[in-house]
Amino acid sequence: MKQSSGRGNFGSRLGVILASAGSAVGLGNIWRFPTEVGSNGGAAFILVYLAFVFLLAMPVMVAEFVIGRSSRANTVGAYRTLAPGKPWIVAGFMGVVAGILVLSFYSVVAGWTLHYTVDSIGLRLMGPQDFAAVFNNFVSNPWKPLIFQYVFLLLTHVIVSRGVESGIERFSKAMMPMLLVIIVVLACCSLTMPGARDGLTFLLKPDFSKVTTKVVLSAMGQAFFSLSVGIGCLATYASYFKEDTRLVNSAFSVCVIDSLVAIFSGFIIFPAVFSVQGVQVDAGPGLVYITLPNVFNLAFGDVPFLGYLFSVFFYVLLLLAALTSTISMHEIATAFFRENYRLSRRTAATIVTLICVVLGTACSLSFGVWSEVKVMGMGFFALFDFLTAKFIMPLGGILLTMFVEWYLDRKLVVNELTNKGTVRVRSLRLLLFLIRWVAPIGVGVVFLNELAS
Ligand code: ALA
Repeated sequence: MKQSSGRGNFGSRLGVILASAGSAVGLGNIWRFPTEVGSNGGAAFILVYLAFVFLLAMPVMVAEFVIGRSSRANTVGAYRTLAPGKPWIVAGFMGVVAGILVLSFYSVVAGWTLHYTVDSIGLRLMGPQDFAAVFNNFVSNPWKPLIFQYVFLLLTHVIVSRGVESGIERFSKAMMPMLLVIIVVLACCSLTMPGARDGLTFLLKPDFSKVTTKVVLSAMGQAFFSLSVGIGCLATYASYFKEDTRLVNSAFSVCVIDSLVAIFSGFIIFPAVFSVQGVQVDAGPGLVYITLPNVFNLAFGDVPFLGYLFSVFFYVLLLLAALTSTISMHEIATAFFRENYRLSRRTAATIVTLICVVLGTACSLSFGVWSEVKVMGMGFFALFDFLTAKFIMPLGGILLTMFVEWYLDRKLVVNELTNKGTVRVRSLRLLLFLIRWVAPIGVGVVFLNELAS
Protein backbone atom coordinates (compact mmCIF):
# COMPACT_ATOMS: atom_id res chain seq x y z
CA MET A 1 0.00 0.00 0.00
CA LYS A 2 1.44 3.36 -0.95
CA GLN A 3 1.68 6.18 1.55
CA SER A 4 0.17 9.28 0.05
CA SER A 5 2.57 11.79 -1.39
CA GLY A 6 1.71 15.39 -0.63
CA ARG A 7 -2.02 14.70 -0.26
CA GLY A 8 -1.96 15.04 3.52
CA ASN A 9 -2.96 12.55 6.20
CA PHE A 10 -4.95 12.56 9.38
CA GLY A 11 -2.31 12.73 12.10
CA SER A 12 -3.89 10.59 14.82
CA ARG A 13 -6.41 7.83 15.44
CA LEU A 14 -8.58 10.24 17.43
CA GLY A 15 -8.39 12.67 14.51
CA VAL A 16 -9.69 9.97 12.16
CA ILE A 17 -12.64 9.14 14.38
CA LEU A 18 -13.54 12.73 15.20
CA ALA A 19 -13.24 13.92 11.61
CA SER A 20 -15.32 10.99 10.29
CA ALA A 21 -17.84 11.37 13.11
CA GLY A 22 -17.85 15.09 12.37
CA SER A 23 -18.75 14.31 8.78
CA ALA A 24 -21.57 12.09 9.98
CA VAL A 25 -22.89 14.19 12.86
CA GLY A 26 -24.65 17.21 11.49
CA LEU A 27 -27.96 18.80 10.70
CA GLY A 28 -28.95 15.26 9.74
CA ASN A 29 -28.87 14.26 13.39
CA ILE A 30 -30.10 17.38 15.12
CA TRP A 31 -32.48 18.86 12.55
CA ARG A 32 -33.45 16.11 10.08
CA PHE A 33 -33.62 13.16 12.51
CA PRO A 34 -36.14 14.70 14.95
CA THR A 35 -38.11 15.99 11.98
CA GLU A 36 -38.28 12.48 10.52
CA VAL A 37 -39.03 10.89 13.90
CA GLY A 38 -41.80 13.43 14.48
CA SER A 39 -43.37 12.88 11.05
CA ASN A 40 -42.95 9.09 11.04
CA GLY A 41 -44.48 8.15 14.35
CA GLY A 42 -41.61 8.11 16.88
CA ALA A 43 -40.02 5.01 18.43
CA ALA A 44 -40.82 2.48 15.69
CA PHE A 45 -39.08 4.70 13.15
CA ILE A 46 -36.02 4.88 15.43
CA LEU A 47 -35.77 1.09 15.64
CA VAL A 48 -35.99 0.66 11.88
CA TYR A 49 -33.45 3.45 11.53
CA LEU A 50 -30.96 1.81 13.91
CA ALA A 51 -31.30 -1.52 12.11
CA PHE A 52 -30.46 0.24 8.84
CA VAL A 53 -27.49 2.04 10.41
CA PHE A 54 -25.79 -1.16 11.53
CA LEU A 55 -26.95 -3.66 8.88
CA LEU A 56 -26.84 -1.51 5.76
CA ALA A 57 -25.07 1.81 6.26
CA MET A 58 -22.13 0.55 8.33
CA PRO A 59 -21.15 -2.08 5.72
CA VAL A 60 -21.29 0.68 3.09
CA MET A 61 -19.06 2.82 5.30
CA VAL A 62 -16.53 0.00 5.64
CA ALA A 63 -16.63 -0.48 1.86
CA GLU A 64 -15.91 3.24 1.43
CA PHE A 65 -13.00 3.01 3.85
CA VAL A 66 -11.52 0.08 1.91
CA ILE A 67 -11.85 1.90 -1.42
CA GLY A 68 -10.43 5.16 -0.07
CA ARG A 69 -7.44 3.81 1.79
CA SER A 70 -6.41 1.24 -0.78
CA SER A 71 -6.47 3.77 -3.61
CA ARG A 72 -5.29 6.89 -1.77
CA ALA A 73 -7.22 9.02 -4.23
CA ASN A 74 -10.36 11.15 -4.53
CA THR A 75 -13.56 9.25 -5.23
CA VAL A 76 -13.21 9.35 -9.04
CA GLY A 77 -9.46 8.65 -8.91
CA ALA A 78 -10.15 5.70 -6.61
CA TYR A 79 -12.19 3.85 -9.24
CA ARG A 80 -9.68 4.86 -11.90
CA THR A 81 -6.89 3.31 -9.80
CA LEU A 82 -8.72 0.19 -8.65
CA ALA A 83 -10.70 -0.55 -11.83
CA PRO A 84 -8.91 1.18 -14.73
CA GLY A 85 -11.02 1.58 -17.87
CA LYS A 86 -14.13 0.11 -16.24
CA PRO A 87 -17.55 1.80 -15.95
CA TRP A 88 -17.33 1.73 -12.13
CA ILE A 89 -15.92 5.25 -12.41
CA VAL A 90 -19.51 6.47 -12.85
CA ALA A 91 -20.03 5.78 -9.14
CA GLY A 92 -17.12 8.15 -8.44
CA PHE A 93 -18.64 10.95 -10.52
CA MET A 94 -22.00 10.35 -8.85
CA GLY A 95 -20.28 10.98 -5.52
CA VAL A 96 -18.79 14.29 -6.63
CA VAL A 97 -22.15 15.48 -7.98
CA ALA A 98 -24.00 14.31 -4.85
CA GLY A 99 -21.49 16.04 -2.54
CA ILE A 100 -22.11 19.32 -4.37
CA LEU A 101 -25.90 18.86 -4.34
CA VAL A 102 -25.95 18.05 -0.63
CA LEU A 103 -23.73 21.03 0.18
CA SER A 104 -25.96 23.30 -1.91
CA PHE A 105 -29.20 22.58 -0.03
CA TYR A 106 -27.54 21.85 3.29
CA SER A 107 -25.87 25.26 3.34
CA VAL A 108 -29.34 26.84 3.14
CA VAL A 109 -30.34 25.27 6.45
CA ALA A 110 -26.87 25.94 7.84
CA GLY A 111 -27.37 29.60 6.89
CA TRP A 112 -30.73 29.66 8.74
CA THR A 113 -28.93 28.18 11.72
CA LEU A 114 -26.28 30.88 11.63
CA HIS A 115 -29.04 33.49 11.54
CA TYR A 116 -30.84 31.87 14.49
CA THR A 117 -27.55 31.66 16.40
CA VAL A 118 -26.99 35.38 15.93
CA ASP A 119 -30.62 36.14 16.82
CA SER A 120 -30.58 33.95 19.90
CA ILE A 121 -27.38 35.59 21.16
CA GLY A 122 -28.87 39.02 20.44
CA LEU A 123 -31.98 38.17 22.53
CA ARG A 124 -34.23 38.41 19.49
CA LEU A 125 -35.80 35.01 20.13
CA MET A 126 -36.89 36.02 23.62
CA GLY A 127 -40.45 36.98 24.37
CA PRO A 128 -43.67 35.65 22.83
CA GLN A 129 -43.82 36.11 19.08
CA ASP A 130 -45.42 34.44 16.08
CA PHE A 131 -42.36 32.29 15.36
CA ALA A 132 -43.97 30.65 12.34
CA ALA A 133 -44.40 34.07 10.73
CA VAL A 134 -40.86 35.09 11.76
CA PHE A 135 -39.43 31.93 10.18
CA ASN A 136 -41.53 32.12 7.02
CA ASN A 137 -40.72 35.80 6.51
CA PHE A 138 -37.04 35.10 6.94
CA VAL A 139 -36.70 32.09 4.63
CA SER A 140 -38.79 33.69 1.89
CA ASN A 141 -36.85 36.94 2.00
CA PRO A 142 -34.96 37.26 -1.33
CA TRP A 143 -31.57 38.19 0.12
CA LYS A 144 -31.31 37.78 3.93
CA PRO A 145 -31.00 33.98 4.02
CA LEU A 146 -28.55 34.17 1.13
CA ILE A 147 -26.15 36.36 3.10
CA PHE A 148 -26.06 33.88 5.99
CA GLN A 149 -25.72 30.97 3.58
CA TYR A 150 -22.77 32.60 1.81
CA VAL A 151 -21.05 33.37 5.13
CA PHE A 152 -21.45 29.74 6.08
CA LEU A 153 -20.07 28.53 2.74
CA LEU A 154 -17.14 30.88 3.21
CA LEU A 155 -16.37 29.38 6.65
CA THR A 156 -16.44 25.90 5.11
CA HIS A 157 -14.24 27.10 2.27
CA VAL A 158 -11.62 28.54 4.63
CA ILE A 159 -11.34 25.32 6.66
CA VAL A 160 -11.14 23.07 3.59
CA SER A 161 -8.56 25.35 1.96
CA ARG A 162 -6.27 24.91 4.96
CA GLY A 163 -5.84 21.24 4.18
CA VAL A 164 -6.41 17.89 5.81
CA GLU A 165 -4.42 18.03 9.01
CA SER A 166 -4.32 21.72 9.85
CA GLY A 167 -7.82 22.43 8.54
CA ILE A 168 -10.23 19.49 8.70
CA GLU A 169 -8.60 17.45 11.47
CA ARG A 170 -7.72 20.33 13.76
CA PHE A 171 -11.20 21.83 13.45
CA SER A 172 -12.97 18.49 14.05
CA LYS A 173 -10.80 17.71 17.07
CA ALA A 174 -11.59 21.04 18.64
CA MET A 175 -15.29 21.12 17.84
CA MET A 176 -16.53 17.55 18.26
CA PRO A 177 -15.83 17.25 22.02
CA MET A 178 -17.49 20.63 22.55
CA LEU A 179 -20.48 19.49 20.52
CA LEU A 180 -20.80 16.25 22.50
CA VAL A 181 -20.69 18.13 25.82
CA ILE A 182 -23.34 20.64 24.69
CA ILE A 183 -25.63 17.87 23.52
CA VAL A 184 -25.43 15.93 26.78
CA VAL A 185 -25.99 19.06 28.89
CA LEU A 186 -29.01 20.13 26.82
CA ALA A 187 -30.50 16.62 26.92
CA CYS A 188 -30.17 16.57 30.73
CA CYS A 189 -31.92 19.96 30.96
CA SER A 190 -34.69 18.84 28.65
CA LEU A 191 -35.26 15.60 30.55
CA THR A 192 -36.04 17.55 33.71
CA MET A 193 -38.93 19.40 32.05
CA PRO A 194 -42.54 18.67 33.04
CA GLY A 195 -43.50 16.89 29.80
CA ALA A 196 -40.35 14.76 29.70
CA ARG A 197 -42.25 11.53 30.37
CA ASP A 198 -44.54 11.97 27.32
CA GLY A 199 -41.57 12.93 25.18
CA LEU A 200 -39.71 9.82 26.29
CA THR A 201 -42.72 7.60 25.61
CA PHE A 202 -42.95 9.02 22.09
CA LEU A 203 -39.24 8.32 21.59
CA LEU A 204 -38.97 4.96 23.27
CA LYS A 205 -42.30 3.11 23.04
CA PRO A 206 -42.67 1.67 19.54
CA ASP A 207 -46.00 1.34 17.78
CA PHE A 208 -45.24 -0.97 14.86
CA SER A 209 -48.59 -0.31 13.21
CA LYS A 210 -47.00 2.97 12.15
CA VAL A 211 -44.28 1.24 10.09
CA THR A 212 -45.37 1.76 6.49
CA THR A 213 -43.31 1.54 3.30
CA LYS A 214 -42.83 5.29 3.49
CA VAL A 215 -41.47 4.99 7.03
CA VAL A 216 -39.02 2.27 5.96
CA LEU A 217 -37.73 4.28 3.02
CA SER A 218 -37.43 7.42 5.11
CA ALA A 219 -35.48 5.49 7.75
CA MET A 220 -33.06 4.19 5.15
CA GLY A 221 -32.62 7.60 3.53
CA GLN A 222 -32.03 9.06 6.98
CA ALA A 223 -29.43 6.38 7.88
CA PHE A 224 -27.48 7.03 4.68
CA PHE A 225 -27.79 10.79 4.95
CA SER A 226 -26.85 10.89 8.60
CA LEU A 227 -23.76 8.75 8.15
CA SER A 228 -22.75 10.54 4.92
CA VAL A 229 -22.42 7.20 3.14
CA GLY A 230 -22.97 6.22 -0.47
CA ILE A 231 -21.32 9.22 -2.11
CA GLY A 232 -17.63 8.67 -1.48
CA CYS A 233 -17.39 11.24 1.31
CA LEU A 234 -15.89 8.76 3.75
CA ALA A 235 -13.86 7.13 0.97
CA THR A 236 -12.28 10.53 0.44
CA TYR A 237 -11.53 10.85 4.17
CA ALA A 238 -10.19 7.28 4.24
CA SER A 239 -7.75 8.17 1.51
CA TYR A 240 -6.06 10.29 4.21
CA PHE A 241 -6.03 7.49 6.83
CA LYS A 242 -2.71 6.02 7.87
CA GLU A 243 -1.78 2.39 7.33
CA ASP A 244 -2.42 1.47 10.95
CA THR A 245 -5.92 3.00 11.13
CA ARG A 246 -8.36 0.24 12.06
CA LEU A 247 -11.12 0.52 9.50
CA VAL A 248 -13.77 -1.65 11.12
CA ASN A 249 -13.30 -0.19 14.61
CA SER A 250 -13.39 3.32 13.21
CA ALA A 251 -16.59 2.63 11.24
CA PHE A 252 -18.25 1.10 14.29
CA SER A 253 -17.22 4.06 16.50
CA VAL A 254 -18.58 6.53 13.96
CA CYS A 255 -21.92 4.68 13.74
CA VAL A 256 -22.24 4.54 17.52
CA ILE A 257 -21.37 8.22 17.98
CA ASP A 258 -23.73 9.26 15.19
CA SER A 259 -26.64 7.18 16.53
CA LEU A 260 -26.10 8.45 20.07
CA VAL A 261 -26.07 12.05 18.90
CA ALA A 262 -29.30 11.49 16.93
CA ILE A 263 -31.02 9.90 19.92
CA PHE A 264 -29.73 12.56 22.29
CA SER A 265 -31.09 15.18 19.90
CA GLY A 266 -34.43 13.44 20.32
CA PHE A 267 -33.93 13.65 24.10
CA ILE A 268 -33.35 17.38 23.75
CA ILE A 269 -36.24 18.13 21.46
CA PHE A 270 -39.18 15.87 22.32
CA PRO A 271 -39.31 16.21 26.13
CA ALA A 272 -39.08 19.97 25.60
CA VAL A 273 -41.77 19.97 22.92
CA PHE A 274 -44.13 17.77 24.94
CA SER A 275 -43.70 20.15 27.88
CA VAL A 276 -45.52 22.89 26.02
CA GLN A 277 -49.23 22.58 25.26
CA GLY A 278 -50.31 22.96 21.67
CA VAL A 279 -46.87 22.63 20.12
CA GLN A 280 -46.68 20.07 17.30
CA VAL A 281 -44.12 17.23 17.19
CA ASP A 282 -44.68 16.73 13.48
CA ALA A 283 -44.02 20.31 12.52
CA GLY A 284 -41.63 19.13 9.77
CA PRO A 285 -38.55 21.14 8.83
CA GLY A 286 -39.78 24.07 10.95
CA LEU A 287 -39.44 21.99 14.13
CA VAL A 288 -36.19 23.53 15.31
CA TYR A 289 -36.88 27.03 13.97
CA ILE A 290 -40.55 27.47 14.88
CA THR A 291 -41.40 24.92 17.52
CA LEU A 292 -38.25 25.22 19.60
CA PRO A 293 -38.17 29.02 19.97
CA ASN A 294 -41.73 28.69 21.29
CA VAL A 295 -40.50 26.03 23.68
CA PHE A 296 -37.54 28.15 24.85
CA ASN A 297 -39.98 30.91 25.78
CA LEU A 298 -42.87 28.94 27.18
CA ALA A 299 -41.08 26.16 29.03
CA PHE A 300 -38.74 28.55 30.81
CA GLY A 301 -41.37 31.24 31.38
CA ASP A 302 -40.42 31.70 35.06
CA VAL A 303 -36.68 31.84 34.43
CA PRO A 304 -36.21 33.42 31.00
CA PHE A 305 -32.43 33.43 31.39
CA LEU A 306 -32.43 29.62 31.29
CA GLY A 307 -34.46 29.71 28.10
CA TYR A 308 -31.92 32.16 26.71
CA LEU A 309 -28.97 29.91 27.56
CA PHE A 310 -30.74 26.85 26.23
CA SER A 311 -31.47 28.51 22.90
CA VAL A 312 -27.96 29.93 22.46
CA PHE A 313 -26.31 26.59 23.19
CA PHE A 314 -28.77 24.74 20.99
CA TYR A 315 -28.13 26.87 17.90
CA VAL A 316 -24.36 26.90 18.49
CA LEU A 317 -24.53 23.11 18.66
CA LEU A 318 -26.43 22.94 15.41
CA LEU A 319 -23.98 25.31 13.77
CA LEU A 320 -20.88 23.37 14.78
CA ALA A 321 -22.46 20.09 13.73
CA ALA A 322 -23.35 21.56 10.35
CA LEU A 323 -19.84 22.87 9.80
CA THR A 324 -18.07 19.57 10.52
CA SER A 325 -20.35 17.96 7.93
CA THR A 326 -20.12 20.61 5.24
CA ILE A 327 -16.34 20.44 5.23
CA SER A 328 -16.55 16.72 4.43
CA MET A 329 -19.05 17.29 1.59
CA HIS A 330 -16.86 20.06 0.24
CA GLU A 331 -13.77 17.86 0.45
CA ILE A 332 -15.24 15.21 -1.91
CA ALA A 333 -15.33 17.64 -4.81
CA THR A 334 -12.27 19.64 -3.74
CA ALA A 335 -10.12 16.49 -3.73
CA PHE A 336 -11.54 15.57 -7.13
CA PHE A 337 -10.83 18.92 -8.80
CA ARG A 338 -7.44 19.17 -7.14
CA GLU A 339 -6.19 15.75 -8.18
CA ASN A 340 -8.01 15.34 -11.48
CA TYR A 341 -7.00 18.71 -12.90
CA ARG A 342 -3.76 19.13 -10.88
CA LEU A 343 -4.92 22.35 -9.24
CA SER A 344 -3.83 23.85 -5.95
CA ARG A 345 -6.09 23.02 -3.00
CA ARG A 346 -7.15 26.65 -2.79
CA THR A 347 -8.17 26.87 -6.45
CA ALA A 348 -10.01 23.55 -6.31
CA ALA A 349 -11.86 24.65 -3.18
CA THR A 350 -12.76 27.96 -4.80
CA ILE A 351 -14.33 26.19 -7.79
CA VAL A 352 -16.43 24.01 -5.48
CA THR A 353 -17.52 26.95 -3.35
CA LEU A 354 -18.57 28.95 -6.40
CA ILE A 355 -20.63 26.05 -7.81
CA CYS A 356 -22.32 25.66 -4.43
CA VAL A 357 -23.03 29.39 -4.25
CA VAL A 358 -24.89 29.19 -7.57
CA LEU A 359 -26.84 25.98 -6.84
CA GLY A 360 -27.33 26.92 -3.19
CA THR A 361 -28.86 30.24 -4.25
CA ALA A 362 -31.46 28.32 -6.30
CA CYS A 363 -32.22 26.14 -3.26
CA SER A 364 -32.62 29.12 -0.97
CA LEU A 365 -34.83 31.03 -3.40
CA SER A 366 -37.10 28.00 -3.70
CA PHE A 367 -38.53 29.06 -0.32
CA GLY A 368 -39.38 32.51 -1.66
CA VAL A 369 -39.35 34.14 -5.06
CA TRP A 370 -38.75 30.85 -6.90
CA SER A 371 -41.29 28.84 -4.95
CA GLU A 372 -43.30 28.31 -8.13
CA VAL A 373 -40.32 26.89 -10.06
CA LYS A 374 -40.71 23.10 -9.95
CA VAL A 375 -38.70 20.24 -11.38
CA MET A 376 -40.36 16.81 -11.07
CA GLY A 377 -42.99 18.57 -8.98
CA MET A 378 -40.43 19.82 -6.43
CA GLY A 379 -38.65 23.09 -5.71
CA PHE A 380 -34.84 23.00 -5.92
CA PHE A 381 -34.33 22.44 -2.17
CA ALA A 382 -36.73 19.50 -1.98
CA LEU A 383 -35.42 18.14 -5.28
CA PHE A 384 -31.77 18.11 -4.15
CA ASP A 385 -32.74 16.54 -0.82
CA PHE A 386 -34.80 13.86 -2.59
CA LEU A 387 -32.17 13.17 -5.27
CA THR A 388 -29.38 12.71 -2.75
CA ALA A 389 -30.94 11.05 0.33
CA LYS A 390 -33.44 8.87 -1.46
CA PHE A 391 -31.76 8.25 -4.79
CA ILE A 392 -27.99 8.81 -5.19
CA MET A 393 -26.97 7.73 -1.68
CA PRO A 394 -28.77 4.37 -1.73
CA LEU A 395 -27.74 3.73 -5.33
CA GLY A 396 -24.17 4.69 -4.44
CA GLY A 397 -24.37 2.32 -1.46
CA ILE A 398 -25.35 -0.57 -3.73
CA LEU A 399 -22.53 0.19 -6.18
CA LEU A 400 -19.89 0.67 -3.46
CA THR A 401 -20.64 -2.60 -1.70
CA MET A 402 -20.91 -4.53 -4.98
CA PHE A 403 -17.62 -3.07 -6.11
CA VAL A 404 -15.81 -4.12 -2.95
CA GLU A 405 -17.26 -7.59 -2.67
CA TRP A 406 -17.84 -8.58 -6.29
CA TYR A 407 -15.11 -6.74 -8.14
CA LEU A 408 -12.12 -6.12 -5.85
CA ASP A 409 -9.76 -8.94 -5.05
CA ARG A 410 -10.88 -10.56 -1.78
CA LYS A 411 -7.25 -10.61 -0.57
CA LEU A 412 -6.93 -6.84 -0.96
CA VAL A 413 -10.18 -6.30 0.96
CA VAL A 414 -9.17 -8.60 3.82
CA ASN A 415 -5.71 -7.01 3.93
CA GLU A 416 -7.30 -3.60 4.30
CA LEU A 417 -9.73 -4.71 6.97
CA THR A 418 -7.06 -6.50 9.01
CA ASN A 419 -4.20 -4.09 8.28
CA LYS A 420 -2.31 -6.87 6.47
CA GLY A 421 -3.18 -9.45 9.06
CA THR A 422 -1.90 -7.43 12.02
CA VAL A 423 -5.35 -6.72 13.45
CA ARG A 424 -7.91 -9.33 14.41
CA VAL A 425 -11.42 -8.43 13.27
CA ARG A 426 -13.76 -10.62 15.27
CA SER A 427 -16.79 -10.40 13.02
CA LEU A 428 -14.94 -10.34 9.71
CA ARG A 429 -17.04 -13.05 8.07
CA LEU A 430 -20.27 -11.48 9.19
CA LEU A 431 -19.11 -8.12 7.93
CA LEU A 432 -18.13 -9.51 4.53
CA PHE A 433 -21.52 -11.23 4.34
CA LEU A 434 -23.27 -7.93 5.10
CA ILE A 435 -21.22 -6.16 2.45
CA ARG A 436 -21.70 -8.90 -0.15
CA TRP A 437 -25.39 -9.73 0.29
CA VAL A 438 -27.33 -7.84 2.92
CA ALA A 439 -26.37 -4.26 2.05
CA PRO A 440 -26.81 -4.35 -1.74
CA ILE A 441 -29.94 -6.52 -1.65
CA GLY A 442 -31.51 -4.74 1.33
CA VAL A 443 -30.91 -1.29 -0.11
CA GLY A 444 -31.96 -2.51 -3.57
CA VAL A 445 -35.31 -3.86 -2.37
CA VAL A 446 -36.26 -0.68 -0.51
CA PHE A 447 -35.02 1.44 -3.38
CA LEU A 448 -36.91 -0.48 -6.12
CA ASN A 449 -40.02 -0.44 -4.02
CA GLU A 450 -39.84 3.33 -3.94
CA LEU A 451 -39.21 3.62 -7.69
CA ALA A 452 -42.20 1.37 -8.40
CA SER A 453 -44.56 3.31 -6.12
N1 ALA B 1 -24.08 13.34 7.53
C1 ALA B 1 -24.38 14.71 7.54
C2 ALA B 1 -25.45 15.03 8.50
O1 ALA B 1 -25.96 14.18 9.17
C3 ALA B 1 -24.70 15.16 6.15
O2 ALA B 1 -25.82 16.14 8.64
